[in-house]
Amino acid sequence: MGGQFISFEGGEGSGKSTQILLLAEKLRANGVEVVVTREPGGSEGAEQLRHLLLTGDIAAWSPISEALLFAAGRSDHLEKLIRPSLDNNIWVLCDRFLDSTRAYQGVAGKVPQEFIEMIEKHVVADSLPNKTYILDLDPQVGLARANARIAEFSKNTAAISEDRFENMRLQFHKDLRNCYIDIAKNESVRCTIINAERDIATIHGEIWQDVQKILTKMDG
Ligand code: TYD
Repeated sequence: MGGQFISFEGGEGSGKSTQILLLAEKLRANGVEVVVTREPGGSEGAEQLRHLLLTGDIAAWSPISEALLFAAGRSDHLEKLIRPSLDNNIWVLCDRFLDSTRAYQGVAGKVPQEFIEMIEKHVVADSLPNKTYILDLDPQVGLARANARIAEFSKNTAAISEDRFENMRLQFHKDLRNCYIDIAKNESVRCTIINAERDIATIHGEIWQDVQKILTKMDG
């Protein structure tokens, strides 16, 4: 079966990165080789694009320019890290992938769906994740968590948060949530919604139970 490609999606403060690290640890303990990566970023070129996208003025890029820049990064990430890892039987756990473009630029940013689909067709092609976990929670809860994290971070380092997207208004986050729910409905084999309002261990337990199904299939 080779390496498995698993992406994690969700709004701000949904706890994706914590869950990715816990899953990576569990997989490694079970003898699976894993690489943890993220978007935007994950390869040298894509990390440079990440810097362009996430720092500075919130209105620096129009949604359509963003869609192209995220796609450029994704293309490089796929070429340099994701596909070579999967070919070497290494599992790839990715913090955000194409569904983020559908949600942030497509639905919330109003970039036409056919444009997003056209980019997907040429950039992602048949490299869709085998599995996508959508960490779902009330945007108000998520934003409160994310803001608490930023406040803690700036208190300790006096640094300015790079994350300009987190300042956007509540309606935007509600749109994102609805988009993710629609994606999960339309692609119910690939996508699983996880209730992210529960505690870390419970969420991890649910994800691990699901991932074990993939492992069982691989053994069989
Ligand atoms: P990041 O700091 O990684 O935050 P998060 O914890 O929310 O993942 O910021 C990534 C931001 O980039 C996030 O606000 C979502 C946005 N994004 C897009 O708008 N489109 C995309 O295709 C991707 C991958 C991310």
